Amino acid sequence: MTSNIIAKIKALKADWPGNIALACFDPDYFATLSENHKARLLKCLNSGIENPDSEMGCYACQPSDYDDFKPFFSKVLARYHKVPEGVRHVNDWNLKGVAGLPADGVLDLARLGLPALSMRVRTGRNLRDFPLPGSMTREDRIHLEQKMMAAFDKLIAMPEYGGRYYSLTPGNPCSIDDTKYRELVDEHIMFKNMDNDRYLTAAGIAADWPHGRGCYVSADRGFTIWVGEEDHLRIICMQRGTILNEVFDRLKSAFAVVEGVEGLEFAYSVDYGVVTSCPTNLGTGMRASVHIPLPNLTADGTDSRAVALARPLGLSVRGVGGEHTPIGADGTVDISPSARFCITEAEIVAALYRGIALLKAEEDKCNLTG
Ligand code: ADP
Ligand code: ARG
Repeated sequence: MTSNIIAKIKALKADWPGNIALACFDPDYFATLSENHKARLLKCLNSGIENPDSEMGCYACQPSDYDDFKPFFSKVLARYHKVPEGVRHVNDWNLKGVAGLPADGVLDLARLGLPALSMRVRTGRNLRDFPLPGSMTREDRIHLEQKMMAAFDKLIAMPEYGGRYYSLTPGNPCSIDDTKYRELVDEHIMFKNMDNDRYLTAAGIAADWPHGRGCYVSADRGFTIWVGEEDHLRIICMQRGTILNEVFDRLKSAFAVVEGVEGLEFAYSVDYGVVTSCPTNLGTGMRASVHIPLPNLTADGTDSRAVALARPLGLSVRGVGGEHTPIGADGTVDISPSARFCITEAEIVAALYRGIALLKAEEDKCNLTG
């Protein structure tokens, strides 16, 4: 049985050299593992085997997978994040001393000649005492949601947060109907139907949809916590404005409140920092983005030119509905620094500011050259 799958991996590896998990899979290392560990590692690779066009091609399924399968994951991380193998990640939310910061430390988009934009910063977290989403049972998902609902009651009771929880779980006292769910997705508050993501489906992460899925939203709608998406939690601040520090600082303090709730213990790896399902998010779990109109760079109706310019600047371009969605009709795209690992949280928000400045200069240049 295992020899069939190894033969399949070897064949796929040759045909799909861009699939990082397949490329880093070493049959000799695999042969040294116990039967139980073999099955666990193969489970991590399932999404990349079923979707050989994957760029990453694997997801961790237990909080300890990165450490238990270090010879595999350290190669994956080095290749994707372009860092030396065996490097250690350091977390730090303090902006003081971060290179390239304006003298007053204020990351104000107005200084770049930009109007108020929609700014968002999210960080993923997983609870230490549950399997990661790829290995959860339906009961685990429902139990985790219930545990989080008790934690949200504490936020709801705090005047600076308030708000409510919206559940997608049938029969949950906070459950919402399809119309309300669609409305929240359109507001960029709630996540999309995970069943439509073939990578998450093959990984087992989308299983049992919509059980155990939901979202806490603060009274002012600027602070959100997703429950049951690719990570147990995605903790998010979003607001319209020009000062990136506002959304970053709010996430920092809101995160501290969540982290302080008794009984919530997040999964961290000594070497790798924040543990996330996908190795692309490991380290900080953080993505800091703006929705920015780039009508000149997207004049052909696609993001190709913006992507080509953004990549060497260390930026990712997404559509206005998030990953794997099209750009806006007015040329609005989602821009975020690609790095999450071996970069600090503070460096990510500073990198967003610098990246926007560079991309805005390209957009303006494009206007002059036509
Ligand atoms: P994630 O950011 O968690 O990796 P997605 O890329 O799928 O996930 O985005 C999730 C949602 O957040 C989508 O609705 C997307 O449009 C929205 N979003 C991301 N960045 C912004 C932003 N700066 N302003 C408004 N909405 C945003
Ligand atoms: N599993 C997909 C791949 O390997 C997506 C990886 C990045 N996106 C994500 N949402 N984690 O290409």
